[in-house]
Amino acid sequence: METKRLDESSIQSAVEIIKADGLVAFPTETVYGLGANALSETAVKRVFEVKGRPSDNPLIVHVADFEEVKKYVDEFHPLTEKLVATYWPGPLTLIFKTRPNALPTVVSAGLSTVSFRMPKKKETLTLLRAAKLPLVGPSANTSGKPSPTTADHVFHDLQGKIEGILEGGAATIGVESTVLDISDPTKPPMILRPGAITKEQLEADLGIEVLIDQYLTKESDVPRSPGMKYKHYSPNTKVLMVHEADWSQAVSTLTARGLKLGVMAGPAIMEEVRMDVAATFPFQNDSVEAATKGLFAGLRSLDESLLQLDVILVPTFPEEKLGVAYMNRLKKAAGQQYFGEN
Ligand code: TXA
Ligand code: MG
Repeated sequence: METKRLDESSIQSAVEIIKADGLVAFPTETVYGLGANALSETAVKRVFEVKGRPSDNPLIVHVADFEEVKKYVDEFHPLTEKLVATYWPGPLTLIFKTRPNALPTVVSAGLSTVSFRMPKKKETLTLLRAAKLPLVGPSANTSGKPSPTTADHVFHDLQGKIEGILEGGAATIGVESTVLDISDPTKPPMILRPGAITKEQLEADLGIEVLIDQYLTKESDVPRSPGMKYKHYSPNTKVLMVHEADWSQAVSTLTARGLKLGVMAGPAIMEEVRMDVAATFPFQNDSVEAATKGLFAGLRSLDESLLQLDVILVPTFPEEKLGVAYMNRLKKAAGQQYFGEN
């Protein structure tokens, strides 16, 4: 199958593909998603097949507005209106208790809840409005690989396996949405996957305490979000996390062992180590926002370097605000390994 590259001028082709149970990847502000008609069991099953995704991992349903959610949900958490008004469109996925059989069971992997999100990219909102259908949208990567932040990343993983890719430039955030469970109206909201909408921000805006899944704080072994337990974001090359104070030592020690190094970092660290490493992937600046935006792209780029690197070194950030989401993805990519601890 030929994977067509589409843009906003060819939305109609994208709509036709979706209506015929085909798959069209779409851009969002977080990462690219793999779109298919959420109301079609056939289309949704293909999404699982193409990604190689375990069938117990539920999908996020992408909608053009909150009205669409009301078709599938009867009972809402009292904070729903405020959350939607504050954060949609945007990188916040909300989990609702759905009416039985409102959506094909493959979408929710058999759970009694379904997650919904209204993404922010205009191309994708145009597609959702033109198709007049809710679209499932897992990250458009092969399961286990870093999520795609450009159309080229999607093409790399899924070329020949999907009908189209709607192009919309590089994702501005770079990690997947915050997943917030508000399925029980009697309980405070709980973060199941950290993202760009942070616990600090939610608490300030809502004026209440927001819980965080104990799996994320290592107090439980079982995540409430099935997807969190899978090995994720893993390049083939070994990845090591490096604390701010350890950079010179990391580079000299590993180089002395005869290892070929790749570094992804902002200008401050890069300045210190650039001359001594084989390959670099620069972040735009030294902020955690820039590191988050470049994280998956950098892992993919250095992993595919023709220099065949032995180790990719990546900076740590404090685990607060966006740093929580950044470190959550980075730790998985690095298999929890820091320089100096092995
Ligand atoms: O930013 C994003 O959310 C991207 C873009 C494309 O929208 N999508 C995305 O989808 O990251 P995916 O399928 O790669 O991740 C969905 C996560 C998984 O960890 C899944 O287990 C969790 O959300 N999830 C989905 N529905 C759930 C539910 N009903 N209960 C608990 N967790 C759920
Ligand atoms: Mg994913």
